Amino acid sequence: MQIYKVGGAVRDRLLGKPVTDIDWVVVGASTEEMLAKGYRPVGADFPVFLHPKSGEEYALARTERKSGRGYGGFTFHASPEVTLEEDLIRRDLTINAMAEDDHGQLTDPYHGQRDLEARLLRHVSPAFTEDPLRVLRVARFAARYAGLGFTVAPETLELMRQLSESGELEALTAERSWKEISRALMEDQPQVFIQVLRDCGALKVLIPEIEALFGVPQPEAHHPEIDSGVHTLSVLEQAALHKQPLTVRWACLLHDLGKGLTPESQWPQHIAHEHKGLKLIKAVNERFKAPRDCQELALLVGEYHTHGHRALELRPSTLLELLQSFDVYRRPQRFEEFINACEMDARGRKGLEQRSYPQADYLRGAATAARTVVVQPLLEQGFKGPELGEALKRERLKALKAYKEAASA
Ligand code: CTP
Repeated sequence: MQIYKVGGAVRDRLLGKPVTDIDWVVVGASTEEMLAKGYRPVGADFPVFLHPKSGEEYALARTERKSGRGYGGFTFHASPEVTLEEDLIRRDLTINAMAEDDHGQLTDPYHGQRDLEARLLRHVSPAFTEDPLRVLRVARFAARYAGLGFTVAPETLELMRQLSESGELEALTAERSWKEISRALMEDQPQVFIQVLRDCGALKVLIPEIEALFGVPQPEAHHPEIDSGVHTLSVLEQAALHKQPLTVRWACLLHDLGKGLTPESQWPQHIAHEHKGLKLIKAVNERFKAPRDCQELALLVGEYHTHGHRALELRPSTLLELLQSFDVYRRPQRFEEFINACEMDARGRKGLEQRSYPQADYLRGAATAARTVVVQPLLEQGFKGPELGEALKRERLKALKAYKEAASA
């Protein structure tokens, strides 16, 4: 049996990037031989094993054929006769279809190295279309390597377009899609992920609510970029530049969905888009079964981002309501994430990327002021139940009034 390093590990080494996990392919071995050597099988009918010591993945060289829709619709053929070249040809991109042996000798039948040099994400063969998830994967790699100058090869984009039009994307499970989306959002240039999905017609299938933002104007005075879709991409770009976590990036992506619902007659104004967008945010959240913290923050940022921008003008009672909506007393981190999402929204505008955002510290100060109110003295005064809640609110309001006065003095 011969064992080769394959996929991302080979690609990233050649790119001079750190290699985290290594995938291996085993040629000339049978399942029985693998088991006899102590490898542990990953799944019942999947020719993949875990190394007894390192825990790394070892897959028997295999060919794959699509037999139906979706991920389940595959038949595998793994046998000792399957060659390395046959295994590599079923893979997604040429840069992912290289193998390396023990001595660092490269097998590169589909010219992955040439495409690495040309900075091209190019499919290996027509078998690319056998897994619709690859549309998202390619967009994710584009987001990751955009900084190195990589683009999607036109003929690959064309295949992605065909896949998007075929209805196959709808067969992807929420879990597989979310895994790609969440990884893509954490890449260096997540806006490129959305842009590539848009370029191949996948965005209007996967998240039509974002596609709908393109071509929708906003008032130039606040939004020199004018277009709502362009703005959304810039907000996401800022979130990545400022190293924001997934929750914030997800909220940035979805914060303005309501603008896609504004009747043309009202453009470029978007009255109450914050509230109108909530049902769309909820639908997207549920479509991909996003984790709870992502879902919650997206809804809160959608509803309250304009409050964030207007923080310095808010009455103390409105500030208090805002803090209560975030349950800032028990969930201070979530409010901090909201503040950061608002700041990214403010910076994700053409020419305003470097602006200062005094609202951020003002909101932090307000949260601190409200949180300094302590319960103990109120308990000692005999308040309990709903009355205690009311008394707490009164004290917090007092604290916020004092805070606002001090801040404007
Ligand atoms: N692969 C594929 N099609 C898929 C998933 C994976 O062809 N839908 C192949 C590619 O050759 C890929 C390898 O399996 O390189 C390993 O996949 P994975 O671990 O998901 O990705 P990596 O390429 O290692 O990239 P990452 O750095 O994102 O983990």
